Amino acid sequence: MTRPIKIAPSILSADFANFGAEIRAIESQGADWVHVDVMDGHFVPNLTFGPPAVKAFRPHVTTVMDVHLMITPVDAYIDAYATAGADILTAHVEAGPHPHRTLQAIRAAGMKAGIALNPGTPADAVEHLLDLADLVCVMTVNPGFGGQSFIDMTAKIARLREMIGDREVMIEIDGGVDPTTAPLVVNAGANVLVAGSAVFRGGSVDRPDVYGENMRAIRDAVTA
Ligand code: DX5
Ligand code: ZN
Repeated sequence: MTRPIKIAPSILSADFANFGAEIRAIESQGADWVHVDVMDGHFVPNLTFGPPAVKAFRPHVTTVMDVHLMITPVDAYIDAYATAGADILTAHVEAGPHPHRTLQAIRAAGMKAGIALNPGTPADAVEHLLDLADLVCVMTVNPGFGGQSFIDMTAKIARLREMIGDREVMIEIDGGVDPTTAPLVVNAGANVLVAGSAVFRGGSVDRPDVYGENMRAIRDAVTA
């Protein structure tokens, strides 16, 4: 396997009163990206943060700010997330009837464009979007909450890797990723691993070394 694996801790599992320090802590411990879960209480049954909060995270992020929108509608908010400083903006294919337009608008706003699929959505749903996407996010939980159990999507990941072919499209996995599940998805073709509870568990801004150990455990599991 030659694809380098990136780890993107989800700050959904961070201390919500201390995002700046939490972001600096995970980056100092080797996080490749920072994954930001935006939820609207409508597309998913939970509510997190919007553009002003994402803008406040921006100065703390020195790697890549990977913003995952679990909202509908999407298009009206794309420019706000560009202004807030997102590097990658991912929308769900289930969020509306015009995903081509959404992906084009994300790229036109100067960001990399991602398309996410819920566990119940087949790989074929994004087949005709692959030329417009920089990243496909395969959900391995039903979105809305951290700490849920992994749903096996390895067949879908393998199918997407085949469909992507020579294109420069990353496959990101989101939900229930830990040292046990990470090797399954990487062997199937994933190259970006989002992890919330498996990175933040047991650590804190005062014990950032635990975040480092948790990330190392995931990396070691996929390179073993
Ligand atoms: C779920 C979010 C995930 C979540 C992952 O809706 O998109 O990013 O925070 O958390 P864990 O790794 O705990 O499943
Ligand atoms: Zn996410």
